[in-house]
Amino acid sequence: MKLFLIFGIYVSFGVCVDASKILGLCPPTGHSHFTLCFRLMKELADKGHEVTFVNSFPQKTPIKNLKDISLKDTVGPISKLMGPLTDFGKLSYIQQVEHISKFGTAQTEIVLQHKNIQALMKSNEHFDLVILYHWANDALAIFAHKFKCPLVMLSPWPSSIFDNYISGNPAPTSFVTHLGAGYDSNMNFWERIDNTYNQIAGEYIMHFRLIPAQNEILKKAFPDAPELSTILYNTSLILTPFHVSLGDPVPLQQNIKEIGGYHVTPPKPLPKDLQDFMDSSTEGVVIFSMGSNVKSGDFTPETIKTILNAFSKIKQKVLWKFEVDLPDKPANVKILPWLPQSDVLAHPNTVAFISHGGLLGTTEAVYHGVPILGLPAFWDQVKNIGVAVKKGYGLKADFYNLDEQSFSSALQEIVNNPKYRNTAKERSRIMHDDPVKQLDKAVFWIEYVIRHKGAPHLRSAAVNLRWYQLYLLDIISFFVVLISIFITSLYLLFKCVCRKNKSGKSDKKNK
Ligand SMILES: *[C@@H]1O[C@H](CO)[C@@H](O)[C@H](O)[C@H]1NC(C)=O
Repeated sequence: MKLFLIFGIYVSFGVCVDASKILGLCPPTGHSHFTLCFRLMKELADKGHEVTFVNSFPQKTPIKNLKDISLKDTVGPISKLMGPLTDFGKLSYIQQVEHISKFGTAQTEIVLQHKNIQALMKSNEHFDLVILYHWANDALAIFAHKFKCPLVMLSPWPSSIFDNYISGNPAPTSFVTHLGAGYDSNMNFWERIDNTYNQIAGEYIMHFRLIPAQNEILKKAFPDAPELSTILYNTSLILTPFHVSLGDPVPLQQNIKEIGGYHVTPPKPLPKDLQDFMDSSTEGVVIFSMGSNVKSGDFTPETIKTILNAFSKIKQKVLWKFEVDLPDKPANVKILPWLPQSDVLAHPNTVAFISHGGLLGTTEAVYHGVPILGLPAFWDQVKNIGVAVKKGYGLKADFYNLDEQSFSSALQEIVNNPKYRNTAKERSRIMHDDPVKQLDKAVFWIEYVIRHKGAPHLRSAAVNLRWYQLYLLDIISFFVVLISIFITSLYLLFKCVCRKNKSGKSDKKNK
């Protein structure tokens, strides 16, 4: 009886210790960003944690343990800031970094001024952990300071200039490619020059533009806030949605964990008509979706004609996610305004995926072992597709200058040559061959950080160094000065000896 009582107390105590109060901050208004956040927040809520979720897409039907704080009315003003995304793709990589840094800061300022954020800042709530979806919105890290609890960053990208500095993560430019690189880690000389320039210029923007700008808007909204960098360098854990099956291995600090593939849910049954369409397409189905950022208005009528002509020449069927139906489409093409993308990719009759190459879609394709024909428009899409091509599970066509000849031959190649599908299946096996599911891994490390009070033991000493110390610039300068002094002294000595000799000789002559 006594034992029972002790056991009962132990169990109830255990439950109440395990459930933590977690604040998730996910201000971006893009739906793919929301998907990455929501998947994690929902899982934490399902595990029994009490999750407060700041986001722009609040739930219509409440979810147990998940409380939304809505930023819905920031969607309008924020989307006005960005401008057409396809124009964004015409900028150079560094201009894109600069644009994201500026746009991210303007967006964060709107969020900081929002009444719900202001109220949260003044609240007496208690949280055990803050998770920030880290998209050029560093100022929001203030909430970890406010609630005096550990900070976890959920990154939208593989480890990059946006996160590396806060964990002191090394990214040697000789083999770690930048976020917009169209090549993989096996770079030739010119690619290494391009990569080094882009990595260094990107770091420069982080340290001298983004962080100071974020610090400024933070001070404007909350004058008592400490220096932003002291909060950022105190980050406990960084979660990145990357998996080595997608590309190349890179160095990672102990507090960076790759969880690529965590957002993919097990396939759900398809709606009846879609299921019939997929089942009956025994020759195979090509799935075509440009994600939520590229809209039908971004396609010129000529591009649409080019695409439809190429489709009419293959024996497979095509399932195209497009907002408008096209009356003169070939018989093998089916257009739907919305697709359960991951579920149709999981169907055994799916033979290829034509995609803009966003990280979510690329991950889903590899997860289900489907080769990709990429039409990258901007940013990391260029890298995702560049790597897919190099690794042999994808091909690329030029979105901005799509010509029928090359698009059609790439399409024929990807549906008819089995080597792409075989490589995609191989990559898929690598993605699934892990000791734990990626989502469980994410939850484990989040709970680990809570259990170990921020897990400072995982943080590298690199975060205590200034950037010039980290890159050894102080040591190099020291040696440069030392060697210069040595050479100058040698030179002066030599000159002096020379002059003495000369004057000695002329003295003799004069005698
Ligand atoms: C640093 O993080 C720890 C938890 O990891 C937290 O308790 C502390 O308040 C943080 N310090 C600052 C200056 O934000």
